[in-house]
Amino acid sequence: MLKGKSVLCLLDLSKEEIEKFLNLSFTMKEDVYSNNVPRTLEGKRVALIFEKPSTRTRVSTESAISMLGGHALILSKSDIQLSRGEPIEDTARVLGRIVNGIGARVLSHESLLKLRDYSSLPVVNLLSNLSHPLQALADFMTIKEKFGTYDKPIAFIGDGKDNVAFSLMAFVAKMGLEMRIGTPKDLRPKDNLWKLIEETAEDTGAIIEFFDDPYEAIRGSYVVYTDVWVSMGEEEIGEKKKELLRPYKVTKDLMRYASTKAIFMHCLPAVRGEEVDSDVIDGKQSVVWDQAENRLYSAMSVFSLIV
Ligand code: CP
Ligand code: NVA
Repeated sequence: MLKGKSVLCLLDLSKEEIEKFLNLSFTMKEDVYSNNVPRTLEGKRVALIFEKPSTRTRVSTESAISMLGGHALILSKSDIQLSRGEPIEDTARVLGRIVNGIGARVLSHESLLKLRDYSSLPVVNLLSNLSHPLQALADFMTIKEKFGTYDKPIAFIGDGKDNVAFSLMAFVAKMGLEMRIGTPKDLRPKDNLWKLIEETAEDTGAIIEFFDDPYEAIRGSYVVYTDVWVSMGEEEIGEKKKELLRPYKVTKDLMRYASTKAIFMHCLPAVRGEEVDSDVIDGKQSVVWDQAENRLYSAMSVFSLIV
């Protein structure tokens, strides 16, 4: 039973729950294409809080909720009292009295826990410093569309501390898949976070390995994934990270070491010429627009099942 459940990190879900979200994402896509979307959120209100900018997440979640017959209230941080110092706990208590669910893009993952605990509503993580679960669901939906299975070796090249990379690792760990991460030693996940992934991987038989050499990491992969080198909120350490990550740009030359059938993925927004060259992200192997479209169906699935 998923009603009332929060989706803050894929590690909090069971394999069966993740599969339910994915299966319904595929159904929602068919429903949208056949103009037959169920009104599962009729009469429901969902508050969507944004502490950071967003294009895909904002558009996909707001569209998802309205297409399902619900109403989304977009609350940019600057428009609500949170920006004037009202505690997040108080914001959560008020939302808990008025709306039926919350989605939030937050600077600190801790804020999501407070929103959940003080509102008693289901809360969806729309990206935090730690993770981006809706992105990983849409990404693995895309992988299955391309290859007919989730089980294809994936290489993440770039920032090993990245929030999107963490959600991909969480998915791989939960589902017992294979992932190779090409990242400098200094950018491997923090020990406490890695421990969570490693323990889950041990239970499921997932294989997640780190490589200093991006050519080694990418070898034989069917999926090549990267994300920006400087995430929102990291601007201060941006130059240092760019320096460390310079050898990890996804170029056409690097792509030659992946499988000839490999697809290129990026959660977007991208910085062309920095983490990926234009001829890769705009080239034949790139599936980034399919990923972006699939964000709609994963959002429809998740909000429909939990609110
Ligand atoms: N991928 C993603 O979440 O994009 P936005 O920051 O535009 O929402
Ligand atoms: N890692 C990026 C992802 C944006 C969708 C960030 O947090 O800014």
